[in-house]
Amino acid sequence: VRTSTLTADAVERGAFRHFMAKEIHEQPAAIAETLEGRVSDDRILPEALGPDASRLLADVRRVQIVACGTSYHAGLVARYWFESIAGLPCDVEVASEFRYRAHVVAPDTLFVTLSQSGETADTLAALREAKTLGYRATLAICNVPESSLVRESDRVMMTRAGPEIGVASTKAFTTQLTALLLTVIAAGRAHQLGRDEEARLVRALRQIPRQIETVLGLEPRIETLAEAFIDKHHTLFLGRGTQYPVAMEGALKLKEISYIHAEAYPAGELKHGPLALVDADMPVVTAAPNNDLVEKLKSNLQEVRARGGRLYVFADPAAAPAASDDCQVIALPSVDEAVAPLLYSVPLQLLAYHVAVL
Ligand code: M6R
Repeated sequence: VRTSTLTADAVERGAFRHFMAKEIHEQPAAIAETLEGRVSDDRILPEALGPDASRLLADVRRVQIVACGTSYHAGLVARYWFESIAGLPCDVEVASEFRYRAHVVAPDTLFVTLSQSGETADTLAALREAKTLGYRATLAICNVPESSLVRESDRVMMTRAGPEIGVASTKAFTTQLTALLLTVIAAGRAHQLGRDEEARLVRALRQIPRQIETVLGLEPRIETLAEAFIDKHHTLFLGRGTQYPVAMEGALKLKEISYIHAEAYPAGELKHGPLALVDADMPVVTAAPNNDLVEKLKSNLQEVRARGGRLYVFADPAAAPAASDDCQVIALPSVDEAVAPLLYSVPLQLLAYHVAVL
């Protein structure tokens, strides 16, 4: 018997109309909790991934991530991070596919599962299968300490998001991203990441709760924006780089709770077919952080405008396209490129929520 230490506040709606709204607003505190005790001013603390983690991470040569739904999208973001920050090849697969096919496992591959609940049947089955396949170790990034996934994995990093009661995953996603970036930085330190780079990434992570607070302050504007979506039947989400899985997550949120069909595409794929669908009745949502892909993204947005499409762009003010009748721009705080997926997920959650409410 274990006595729960949860307070009543954690499982009550309080002043919020829905649990989803409450959980969106809990993200700054939840992310701060994920970071608690795992970073100092500008370093990852060695115990973040358990004792002797540095030795294990130094041995690891590849990463295989397996998850479902929103957790899978977090894994897709992490693939960019593992390869660019830690220099480790990384594959990501949905658990319901992974568990039903044959595998060739490269030596010293770390097997990572992501799950809010730790009880998703396909993810658990994939973990059990992986344990027979010769992976170097299994790591679960999970929100429920008593879950099967946590009990059956070699190593665990808890996301500490607190109970997620809304069916649409929100704070579970951004805390998974936080835990994944911590893992990537720790792996990077064991491979190719320099001290200055580590300091830059840790500082960026420590600032993110405050920056998300600023985004939450944009809620009235996003609520107004949501009105443009309620009579639509389809919505397209576009992104490049790490913003592509963020777009996938935005589309999943919208379809899941508003029942409006939503699809995500890598912006560069638009001209290879889906552009044919774009017109004034199909809103196009995208994120434009200030990075080396933003000019390419802007030329994709021109393609949308040429088809009479209506654009809704969440953007860094330094990189934003010009606002116009057919292009609404919502400025977000400037952030380090590495943490942009955390920040840009939040307005998409708010948009999905308000469209659903309306
Ligand atoms: O508990 P898990 O993270 O394993 O759940 C996986 C998915 O069912 C879940 O992320 C689902 O896609 C979200 N609730 C969607 O918002």
